[in-house]
Order: sequence, then C-alpha cells, then structure tokens
Amino acid sequence: MNSERIGIIGTGYVGLVTGACFSKLGHRVICSDIDEKKIEKLKTGYCPIHEKGLPEILKESLNKGLIDFTSDNKKLAGESDFIFICVGTPEHDEGHADLTHVFESCRQIAGFMKEPKYIIIKSTVPVTAVDKIRKTISDNTKVDFKLLSNPEFLAQGSAVDDFLKPERVIIGADDKESADRLAGLYNGLNAPIVKTDIPSAMLTKYAANAFLAMKISFINAMANICEKTGGNIEKIAEGLGYDRRIGNLFLKAGIGYGGSCFPKDTKALYHMAKELGYDFGLMKEVIEINKNQRKLVMDKLKEKLGDLKGKLIAVFGLAFKPMTDDLREAPSLYIIDDLLKSGCSVNAYDPVVKELNGFNGVKISDDAYQTADNADAVVVVTDHPQLKELDFTKIASKVNSKVVVDGRNILPAEILKELGFNYSSIGRGDELKPR
Ligand code: UGA
Repeated sequence: MNSERIGIIGTGYVGLVTGACFSKLGHRVICSDIDEKKIEKLKTGYCPIHEKGLPEILKESLNKGLIDFTSDNKKLAGESDFIFICVGTPEHDEGHADLTHVFESCRQIAGFMKEPKYIIIKSTVPVTAVDKIRKTISDNTKVDFKLLSNPEFLAQGSAVDDFLKPERVIIGADDKESADRLAGLYNGLNAPIVKTDIPSAMLTKYAANAFLAMKISFINAMANICEKTGGNIEKIAEGLGYDRRIGNLFLKAGIGYGGSCFPKDTKALYHMAKELGYDFGLMKEVIEINKNQRKLVMDKLKEKLGDLKGKLIAVFGLAFKPMTDDLREAPSLYIIDDLLKSGCSVNAYDPVVKELNGFNGVKISDDAYQTADNADAVVVVTDHPQLKELDFTKIASKVNSKVVVDGRNILPAEILKELGFNYSSIGRGDELKPR
C-alpha cells in the first residue's frame, strides 16, 4: 500500500481518531490544533479523550514516527498532500451549524499551500455551504486544489473500530481521479466504498444521523403509548427487530439521545431544509419527542414523591452514553437542572465522568453506594453496564426511601421489586409496576 502524506486539522475525537487510524494504516500523518497545550501533550503520547484503543495506536505511531502534532497550519500544509478538515461545527443560534472553524481552516490552508492539494471535508457541514467553502479556498490561493467530502461515521466509545472496520466509506468528489485517490487512503480496509458527488456525500451523513435519531424518537413515542396501555416496549422492539427491513439496533427506549452529534445534526438538517423552502416536519417532531422524553423522569419522581422540594436525589450516570466521559448535550444536564430548580439536592455517580461544571452543590462520586446514601430516590440516566452489577441490597440499606426511576431500562427490575423498591422504567407498562 502507498504511504501517503496526510494532514488533519482539528484534534477532537473525529480528527484524532482519523489521524491515528490513518497512521495505523501506514500513512504519514500530521495533526494540527489551535490548542497549543493539547498539541504539546499529544506529542508526549498523552491521549486527551477516553476512546478504546486510541492511546495504544497513538503511542505506536509516535514510536514509528508516523504521526506528528503541530499548532502551525503552515507546517501542516507543507507536509501533506491530503488535508482533512475535522474541526467542530457546533450549534449556532436556533440550530444552524456554526461553520466559523471550517472557513477559517480552509482560508489558512489555502494561504499556505504551495502545491496542489486534496482538501477533504470530514466535519459535518450542510450542503448549502459547499460553494462558500470552495470560494474561501480559491479566493486565498492560486494553487490547484480538489475539494472532496468524506463524512465520518465514528460513534464515541467505538470510534477506532468504526474507522478500522467501517460499514462503508462515503466519498464525494467532482471527478473520478480525486475520488480514486481518496479511496486509496482506505486500502486494506474491507469496506464498501460509495463514490458520489459532494452534496450526496454530505447529505448521506445527515441522513444517517437523522434516521438513527428518528428510530430512537419513534421507539420512545411507542414507549409513551405503552406507558398508557400497559404494553412492554422491550418486547415490541424485539418483535420489530426480527424484521430485517427494520433491524434491531437503535430501538432502545429511554430518556432520549444526547451527545455532540444527533442533537446538533437533526437541528442543522431541519434548518437547512427550511432555508431551502422545505418544511421537514418529521425532523422537528423527532427533536420535540426527544426533548419531552427527558421530562418523564421529573413526572415519575413527582408521581412517587409528591413535592420534590428538599428531597435528595441520587443520579446514576452523567455521560451521554456509556464508555465515554462526554457530557455534551447529555440528558443528565437537563435532568439535574430540573431537579435543582424543583428544590432538590443532587448527588451523582458516574463510573467514567469525574467532574461536572456549572452546577453548584452537586456532589460527584465514583462510589454508587455513597451517592445513594440517604437518597429519597435513585434516578438512572446513563446505561452504564456497571449499574446492572451493583449490590441492590446494599443500596436498599443506604437509601432514605426505596424509589427508583430507571430512565434507561437497565436495572434488574425483578430484584429491585423483591427488595421492596418502588421501581419504574420507561414504557414497560403494568408488568413492571411495583407489586
Ligand atoms: C453518532 C452516530 O452513531 C455515529 O455513527 C456518528 O458518526 C456520530 O454520531 C457523529 O455524527 O459523529 P454518537 O453520538 O457517538 O454517534 O453516539 P450513539 O451511539 O449514536 O448514541 C447517541 C445517543 O443516542 C446516546 O445518548 C444514546 O444513549 C442514545 N441512544 C442510542 C438511545 O437512546 N437509544 C438507542 O437505541 C441508541
């Protein structure tokens, strides 16, 4: 396989995983970031994010001299032929994607390049921005360049595997030669490669995240019907999952999706469509269902405890999903905010997250039993597998009142009921009401 020279702009989880994995495939990679402190640490082999397998790859590639880090995009432009833009596209205003970092990166690279480059957008960017990106580059250089799109499908917690064993690679290009060159970087990975035009590639990314978010909101809407009818959403999801046209993944009901991707991308897609004159009502509803889902926790607590003022609530799980310490758009943040506004005190336990900024007085512990001490209710917010293994007899002996609201349908309901807990979960109906 040809070893190519690759530059990665942005060392967030997409950029860092992409850079590390390309170096693992034998390419020579240079990654840049405006955060100089982070770059200094990365050079020493420090891995700033919690991602399975990533620290090992970074160390190995540093030792082999296959990866380097810089905060100087001039150096990066000089040492790479393929430049991947992997900077953040955060939510802006009422949900538009903020592309400031994308434009700035493109402007800088254009200014520094002395020979033709492939400039590849990996950040999730609305199609409507492509012309402006192209113009930003051509306004700042006389050198030839090829613009491409190569969206990422890396889920946090499994990002390294998602890169090295991809279900597909999507390449958007204006011409066959550029698409083939970019596809060559992925040689050695056994994955279907879909080559298409740039808008289709970019829209594929939005469609994938929007579709997955829709599956979650759909199953949550069905769970809400179960709450009223007494059906069990887990059995319904199982029944649906056997239909290959539907599939059994992303049908876990609960308090909804969070993270740095689904909330942002669903809103950005909705707003992009609106700007183009199409009212994507389905997407609006997906977003709305997700927002309302988090409120179920408060409703259930009020049902069980009455007035929440002065109650101590133990929150189990803070991260937006297991195997990550990421708190971006985590349902826990909204739920804790609501609890505090209702006059509750909050203690929180998370096996991965060690600190929580922005909430005064919320005690964080990595000991679930300590967190449950004297609590009036335990609320499960993240489906950390560790939660299933807790000693619930010990928890029963610690709490002030045996109330559990399981927002992720993860705890062993029968054991909790045997222990006398007033246990409720999401959409599992009468079957799981306390005996
Ligand atoms: C998501 C996509 O899964 C990736 O393919 C994509 O590349 C990435 O966004 C991105 O755009 O960068 P991620 O945000 O890491 O990845 O997390 P997911 O595993 O997709 O979970 C998102 C949220 O949905 C979590 O809060 C999770 O708890 C929730 N979820 C997931 C459910 O509530 N129910 C489910 O059945 C599945």
